[in-house]
Amino acid sequence: MNQLLEQIVEDCRGYTSLGKVATYIPQLAVADPEKVGIYVVSHTGEEHYAGDCFDRFTMQSIIKPVILLLALLDSGADKVRALVGVEATGKPFDAFNYSDQALTGAHINPMINTGAIALCTLIRGENYEERFTRLLELTRTLAGTQAPEVDRAVYLSEKKTGSKNRALVYMLKAYGMIDDPAEELLDCYFKACSILISCEELANIANIFAHHGIDPRTGKALFPKEYARYVNATLATCGMYDGSGEFALHVGFPAKSGVGGGIMGVIPNKMGIAVFAPALDKRGNSVAGVRMLSQLSQALDLSIY
Ligand code: DON
Repeated sequence: MNQLLEQIVEDCRGYTSLGKVATYIPQLAVADPEKVGIYVVSHTGEEHYAGDCFDRFTMQSIIKPVILLLALLDSGADKVRALVGVEATGKPFDAFNYSDQALTGAHINPMINTGAIALCTLIRGENYEERFTRLLELTRTLAGTQAPEVDRAVYLSEKKTGSKNRALVYMLKAYGMIDDPAEELLDCYFKACSILISCEELANIANIFAHHGIDPRTGKALFPKEYARYVNATLATCGMYDGSGEFALHVGFPAKSGVGGGIMGVIPNKMGIAVFAPALDKRGNSVAGVRMLSQLSQALDLSIY
């Protein structure tokens, strides 16, 4: 397996030149576009890796499944489902051209910015600082280490330049979907996106979703199976944004990408996978990351379809 992963990293390294690191959050532009790493954790807890898999990068949108999970745990599936829908939008992650001149839950899902921001309102806490702290704690529990923490430079960079996300929050407010103070809510979301993670930690998170809430390392049930199914289903249909259909076709398992260059892959009952390569395609998905997942899927016959 280690040999296979080494081979995949070598085969896919060249694809980094086909993408570009994210620049719309200025601090992400400092990433090295040539980095490539992969980490796999199996159901028996066996770990395999290759390349730059111990580098740390910000989770960005990969925090969205954790936001969804915490909203489910804190508020229940009915409230979550009432606020945010589950249909793929087929649009970019930060789109706001809602066709019928109104914004409703049916237009959004938990994996796009609008949906994830709305779901932060369903996380329990006296204020947004406390809500964020609980989200960070859950991330650390799933990762199996206290290491995840906020990259302050990325957080401040996004806070300073996040006009589009501000616009999305005001759309949610304008259509009566949320009531909370915009800046506090955005602060929680920006910090959440700026949590630093490694492929090793991300593969552990993916492996718990793959095992429906049970941490294969400890045998402990961390959350109900029905919530794992909820999250995994939205990853399968919406996790790669307007590239989710292509990804289902060529790779074939639930996954979530982030503009930091990471992708988490969930292979139900089998394994958790994390890849990292910061050069992105036009949809915001890691180019070499998608190639690595595609090669691994073919080599191990991982498509669930
Ligand atoms: O809100 C944003 O635009 C970023 N913090 C996260 C977007 C993202 O990661 C999209 N992923 N591929």
